[in-house]
Amino acid sequence: MCLSLHQYYAVLIIIALHYVVKSGLDAELYYVRNDLISHYALSFNLLVPSETNFLHFTWHAKSKVEYKLGFQVDNFVAMDMPQINISAQGEVPRTLSVFRVELSCTGKVDSEVMILMQLNLTVNSSKNFTVLNFKRRKMCYKKLEEVKTSALDKNTSRTIYDPVHAAPTTSTRVFYISVGVCCAVIFLVAIILAVLHLHSMKRIELDDSISASSSSQGLSQPSTQTTQYLRADTPNNATPITSSSGYPTLRIEKNDLRSVTLLEAKAKVKDIAISRERITLKDVLQEGTFGRIFHGILVDEKDPNKEKQAFVKTVKDQASEIQVTMMLTESCKLRGLHHRNLLPITHVCIEEGEKPMVILPYMNWGNLKLFLRQCKLVEANNPQAISQQDLVHMAIQIACGMSYLARREVIHKDLAARNCVIDDTLQVKITDNALSRDLFPMDYHCLGDNENRPVRWMALESLVNNEFSSASDVWAFGVTLWELMTLGQTPYVDIDPFEMAAYLKDGYRIAQPINCPDELFAVMACCWALDPEERPKFQQLVQCLTEFHAALGAYV
Ligand SMILES: *[C@@H]1O[C@H](CO)[C@@H](O)[C@H](O)[C@H]1NC(C)=O
Ligand SMILES: *[C@@H]1O[C@H](CO)[C@@H](O)[C@H](O)[C@H]1NC(C)=O
Ligand SMILES: *[C@@H]1O[C@H](CO)[C@@H](O)[C@H](O)[C@H]1NC(C)=O
Ligand SMILES: *[C@@H]1O[C@H](CO)[C@@H](O)[C@H](O)[C@H]1NC(C)=O
Repeated sequence: MCLSLHQYYAVLIIIALHYVVKSGLDAELYYVRNDLISHYALSFNLLVPSETNFLHFTWHAKSKVEYKLGFQVDNFVAMDMPQINISAQGEVPRTLSVFRVELSCTGKVDSEVMILMQLNLTVNSSKNFTVLNFKRRKMCYKKLEEVKTSALDKNTSRTIYDPVHAAPTTSTRVFYISVGVCCAVIFLVAIILAVLHLHSMKRIELDDSISASSSSQGLSQPSTQTTQYLRADTPNNATPITSSSGYPTLRIEKNDLRSVTLLEAKAKVKDIAISRERITLKDVLQEGTFGRIFHGILVDEKDPNKEKQAFVKTVKDQASEIQVTMMLTESCKLRGLHHRNLLPITHVCIEEGEKPMVILPYMNWGNLKLFLRQCKLVEANNPQAISQQDLVHMAIQIACGMSYLARREVIHKDLAARNCVIDDTLQVKITDNALSRDLFPMDYHCLGDNENRPVRWMALESLVNNEFSSASDVWAFGVTLWELMTLGQTPYVDIDPFEMAAYLKDGYRIAQPINCPDELFAVMACCWALDPEERPKFQQLVQCLTEFHAALGAYV
């Protein structure tokens, strides 16, 4: 919906956010055009990548329009006051001009900063004026010392990221005069998503020989499972990705099978243990052979009248000591981390004689994989149930959470839709994989050793050498993106888990889902480069997907 600036009649104002996409092509997102304010454009509140320090706005007016420009920042410890290269008050230029907004982090603390840019416009000195609010958020990180390549990184990241991208939010309480409710959202956004490996991936071709190794080349049932497989053309000659200052060099970690005893596992969580009386169990949300997830109520420690909803993970009577130990250990994967797209454990209950319980904050739409499958079911009757843009937005959130983990040098090792949760505002959070083996047994396989692993989500080096890094998490992110686009299908469903490594080595990957745009598939495909160094970094994925998200918005 957009509102006409009725009183502006002959005034033509254009305020547009100027983009330069990586391909070098320019694009613009219009906020105000021919007196029409695009509330749709203003409603974006997307993330400014942490490397991006400048936003460029283009504007001009046909007749005299005065402006006042001001900023609010919610955290001055993390970010300096934004700087502009025009005066804070004056006349909107009559010729097309550009102004620049600088958003610099102080590097003192880690924090997500909300930035509000407020532009007040007055026409012909009348008392009527219009307030436009542009909202941004940016992750600011504490400066890491080391990184001897930082000089290089800074230069490269500037060329890649500098000229910015999108998005502010609602400007409510805006117009007194807002007259007509017109609905022509005027956008002329032509955004080319210059996805990192687009070129090399374009040459993906269908290879028929694979039908020999997959028993059911079921093109006859395309709607249920994806059964064609693609072979990526010589993954090794793909263009290397320019490294960004995203995070320090990858830490490679071997899977640690060191056995922990139940007593040790309990000792580790003692400090977050609470009394059983504070928890009330309600419905069972998910149930496996030995594990269960409940919707629970957690009573506040000090004020018994205050309650919080929670997920409660617990085990049934028949659970073995090993299974209980695993639940406790795996629940601690994200412990102590704070990010809006992560859902770490908050408490445990390990009283004698009770089955141990793990408590996490509640997200009312529950498990993401189950949610996607639900969407798939309703999609038949209601194609509008969930839009591609919503799905991309979920992917961005997952990439943001993972980017944070990568910076903290935390390797998730089991990123998948089943290990994410969602709420009714479509906020997505990544969580640990405790009980996932039990709740989603089809997604884990045992390859001869005693370990049950998420084979279809694993990078080749993890499968073969048991090596895990942020780059192998990127691989799993690619598969998760594929799960989003297929509304929760199982990847590589026709491939024998024992064949997976050979299959990947030969260059085969999951096929492009039906209705998945090429640009998006290219993003997935570059996550599956054989060489971990060639895979994009999470920060780059956030950037790419954010641009793609904005481009999708432009066609709505
Ligand atoms: C814009 O107008 C609003 C409402 O009068 C006022 O509160 C705000 O301070 C103004 N902003 C700037 C940047 O002048
Ligand atoms: C502000 O900076 C931008 C980009 O750096 C430049 O194009 C523009 O001319 C500058 N504007 C003024 C008024 O200096
Ligand atoms: C980075 O850029 C600065 C000037 O902008 C230059 O002096 C420096 O040599 C560059 N560093 C590298 C590693 O290219
Ligand atoms: C402000 O807008 C109102 C509503 O459109 C209009 O009636 C009024 O004359 C305007 N005031 C001025 C000073 O232009």
